[in-house]
Amino acid sequence: MPLIIDTDTAQDDCVALLVGLLDPAADLRAITMVAGNVGFEQQVRNAFLTLSAAGRLGEVPVYLGCRRPLVREWVSAENVHGDGSGGLSMDQEGLVPESEHAVDALVRLAAENPGELSIVAIGPLTNIAAAVVKDPSFAGNVKSLYVMGGSNNGRGNITAAAEFNFYVDPEAAKAVFAAGFDVTVVPWDPLTLRQAVFGQERLSEIEGLGTVLSAFFTRVCAATLEFDRRVGIDGTTHPDSLTAAVLLHPELVRKASRYHVDVETAGELTRGYSAMSWGVHGLEPNATVVEEIDAEGFYAFIRDLLTRQTTP
Ligand code: BDR
Ligand code: CA
Repeated sequence: MPLIIDTDTAQDDCVALLVGLLDPAADLRAITMVAGNVGFEQQVRNAFLTLSAAGRLGEVPVYLGCRRPLVREWVSAENVHGDGSGGLSMDQEGLVPESEHAVDALVRLAAENPGELSIVAIGPLTNIAAAVVKDPSFAGNVKSLYVMGGSNNGRGNITAAAEFNFYVDPEAAKAVFAAGFDVTVVPWDPLTLRQAVFGQERLSEIEGLGTVLSAFFTRVCAATLEFDRRVGIDGTTHPDSLTAAVLLHPELVRKASRYHVDVETAGELTRGYSAMSWGVHGLEPNATVVEEIDAEGFYAFIRDLLTRQTTP
């Protein structure tokens, strides 16, 4: 399946990139970078580190996108992810991103392949919203948009009300839900928090695989695991890789429902809150929200991916 991953590469974004790079069902055409989790240049380094771990350096173009949200100052999640790759480094001399801006690339690739490309958006939605503004036919040209963001009437993770991706650029998120995409949402709570956490037993199993990829996974997830344990989450969280996985393997979805999704931009305590309304509120649905997955199947999918042998 032809797809683009739009990412603020750190921790589970790296795992989502591995899905796009290594799952035989995926035909990853581009990686587009957006401001989010950690410093922009570090995110780019993390993306190249991931391409290297997957043994696919130089095979998938990396485009640099918006370096800050549409109207707000950038907010990071460095307190959660550290540098986003567990201190991994490599000589990146000669690894050059494309010169075309990510928003231009998104618009161009969608226009060149109308109705064919899916986008997995796992960072703040700044690039996607900018592409909508730049080209009114962008949303129509995209086959499907899979968004990691928001909570389905559950808890936020950066404030009580808001999940990080929507909090960082609420104006962009609001614009995207009004743009007419065929959009599927993978929310933070309850879905990720209840069904996409890998506890110690799973983490030990992954570490024991002994592959380049399992070591890479363990390393990039280490800081987040520490943070999660401090706040009472018993394992690593995988919202971004889950988003890529459910696009490529819809059989992992056990329940998904249509909602009208909108994002709060004005609230004092509720900036970035995702209002997910079902039929009773009389609003026309504009998104499919994933509510239940085959959690064991998702874990098995990631574990099996990490058993692959790669040559960095
Ligand atoms: C999302 O925020 C980021 O910190 C993660 O990469 C994920 O995309 C979860 O709220
Ligand atoms: Ca992300």
